[in-house]
Amino acid sequence: MVIKIKGTKPSRRNFLKAAAAAPVAAMAGGQAFAEEADPAIIEKQPWTQFLGDGVDARPYGMPSQYEADVVRRDVPWLTADPVSSVNFTPLHELDGIITPNGLCFERHHAGIAEIDPGQHRLMINGLVDTPLVFTMEDLMRFPRENHVYFLECAANSGMEWRGAQLNGCQFTHGMIHNVMYTGVPLRLILEEAGVKTSGKWILPEGADASAMTRSIPMEKAMDDCLVAFKMNGEALRPEQGYPVRLVVPGWEGNMWVKWLRRIEVGDQPWHHREETSKYTDLLENGQARRFTWEMDAKSVITNPSPQAPITHGPGHMVLTGVAWSGRGTIPRVDVTIDGGENWVQARMSGPSLNKSMHRFYHEFDWDGSPLLLQSRAHDSTGYVQPTKDMLREVRGENSIYHNNGIQTWYVNEEGIAENVEIS
Ligand code: MTE
Ligand code: CO
Repeated sequence: MVIKIKGTKPSRRNFLKAAAAAPVAAMAGGQAFAEEADPAIIEKQPWTQFLGDGVDARPYGMPSQYEADVVRRDVPWLTADPVSSVNFTPLHELDGIITPNGLCFERHHAGIAEIDPGQHRLMINGLVDTPLVFTMEDLMRFPRENHVYFLECAANSGMEWRGAQLNGCQFTHGMIHNVMYTGVPLRLILEEAGVKTSGKWILPEGADASAMTRSIPMEKAMDDCLVAFKMNGEALRPEQGYPVRLVVPGWEGNMWVKWLRRIEVGDQPWHHREETSKYTDLLENGQARRFTWEMDAKSVITNPSPQAPITHGPGHMVLTGVAWSGRGTIPRVDVTIDGGENWVQARMSGPSLNKSMHRFYHEFDWDGSPLLLQSRAHDSTGYVQPTKDMLREVRGENSIYHNNGIQTWYVNEEGIAENVEIS
């Protein structure tokens, strides 16, 4: 196999050397006692000498001061103004499958609406027997359900269509979060209003200054959509649409209308801005793909990665990452450490839920030579995550949305990782 590394330019010579190197014996994670005494053991630390804060000091708990770097980050040059912009989930700092509420990426077109729930209403109108208006209290009196779902913006990895660009999985893959929603099945609310037989589409609308709208087919609305008011057990954060948002499992994040104030029932799609000039993919032949709602299976190695280098030197190491599919579960993820010459099946750990993030691990002995890391997701329909070149063959290079190609990280002898492409 000829390996061509595109994007940034790591040393190819070193990689070839790595391929020839023999693996070394396993090394335990701990260390033998050093000659010199370890101050972390023999000296009295301040936290052993003074009383800590009492139970009245932290009415709403926050992370340790030593976790201050674990934050959402934006890419300033991506957008003209932060009120119509995006920040990214720090995937390289997380484990398991649940995204903590304060770290869920944010994407808004007109800033965060700060809504008084007492003044918020949800209206159902259009092709229904009885147009209805619900208060938040009304919504709470419907039977509710709990489901864990990922939300991925269709533009996730969009900057990578033409080549490796952003250095970190937070930036290349961080327009995703995975939380447990509590909400009312949209079907129950639509049935309450009584959808006329001519009602084939819905148009959810947000209460923010962008009044965002998307057309959604009635089959999806009646299937698994939720009108959600809780995430991970507590009220939605204002950033995520407090007091109520639409949950459209497996489908592109843009359709998950936040600050949901109105649902119109119609007999055809509306062809609004977000489904014409945006969230469509211009192909090489000048035609555009439209209504590409489902998110294809995808995965990324989160550690090591450019923001999470290997810091411990050769020996036993843990590689981990996440995988997801808008069409079901992820029964299998393959990983390679040599740019695709050899693939092994990763170890999945954690709940395998429909349209939710999955966590995988691969433990191996690093011999200290350069690595080309990739992961490849298989979903429950049998679909296998494609390479970026396979995607470009079909869709050209004009697209921004729906880039689910295989990601490569090059790791050098020092453990420093970079975003590259190989072909
Ligand atoms: N809903 C409203 N009302 N306004 C918005 O700007 N942005 C959409 C969608 N819903 C948006 C919205 C987009 S493009 C995405 S990817 C998701 O919300 C982002 O959800 P999050 O901010 O909870 O991550
Ligand atoms: Co989006």
